[in-house]
Amino acid sequence: MSATYHILTHKDLDKVGSLDQAFASDVLVGLSQTPKTLSSRYFYDERGSRLFQKIMDLPEYYLTACEFDILESQKTAFSTLMEGESFNLVELGAGDGRKTSILLEHFLKKSFAFQYIPIDISEASMQTLTDLLNKKFPELTSKGIIAEYFDGLKWLNHMNSRRNMVLFLGSNLGNFDKAHSRAFLHNLWNALNNGDFVVIGFDLKKDIDLMLKAYNDAGGVTAEFNLNLLRRINRELGGNFDLNKFRFHSSYDVFTGAMESYLVSKEKQTVFIKEISQSFSFEAWEPIHTEYSYKYLESDIQELAAETGFVIEKQLYDSKKYFVDSIWRVQKIDSF
Ligand code: AVI
Repeated sequence: MSATYHILTHKDLDKVGSLDQAFASDVLVGLSQTPKTLSSRYFYDERGSRLFQKIMDLPEYYLTACEFDILESQKTAFSTLMEGESFNLVELGAGDGRKTSILLEHFLKKSFAFQYIPIDISEASMQTLTDLLNKKFPELTSKGIIAEYFDGLKWLNHMNSRRNMVLFLGSNLGNFDKAHSRAFLHNLWNALNNGDFVVIGFDLKKDIDLMLKAYNDAGGVTAEFNLNLLRRINRELGGNFDLNKFRFHSSYDVFTGAMESYLVSKEKQTVFIKEISQSFSFEAWEPIHTEYSYKYLESDIQELAAETGFVIEKQLYDSKKYFVDSIWRVQKIDSF
């Protein structure tokens, strides 16, 4: 037994590897819009991923500590659902696997017949995770898949028919706007079988000051994390953004329930991006929208599950009730 991974190739599917092109065209479309936008999905180059690890260790960024608390204190809620059957523990966007290690250790201790299947588009992240798993859990069977999430899931279901428990932790769903979350969950439902489980991390609505602090940390790591997107455009697309001429701003919209992040141009300026042969003009104090981080009410979670074909099985809260890992069951009614 060991941890390995598999890159889905054009032979398996024909959709892997177009991320670079997508970056250039998304930057072109985003900066040509009013208001200008850049997608937070591009935060995570090597430096961005390191900065995000740093954010997760910040005292202000309560989300990570809350989810650790849930996994540590309520791991048996996961194991009772999977007791006595062989299954796949699938993870979408595993990062450094620190949180999942809690469940892996627990399932291994119980001698469960399972395999761990992280799915990620980045080969570098998968390599790091695979090395770590081999060191930490030599007895674990792990078969990572490098692919877009739904391609990976469809391929997995085609290859075997074990029950799946799919982890989508860390409030990652919160980075999609409402329409995209619904579409994402519906695609997830579509790729899974009746009775499969998904575990989704939701950050709950809470005292606004706490949320503001989490996204405006005193050390400026989150600001650097956002500015890194301009650095990435400079490096990968030949842009000439001067990072000193932009400042980070993050605020909470009580009506939509989202922390919204921006990079604001401090002066009138023009930026040129070589790879897309285009200049973009900024007025003084013009914003670029970079990220939504949605926060949820209980009723929002119930509505989302019902709208997308899931039944809520368990709600696992941290001790402060700031965050919930929500376990949903896929419900599919056989039609004749
Ligand atoms: C990855 N995602 C759930 C984080 C969030 O809270 O929206 C990314 C992040 N942005 C700023 N701080 C952390």
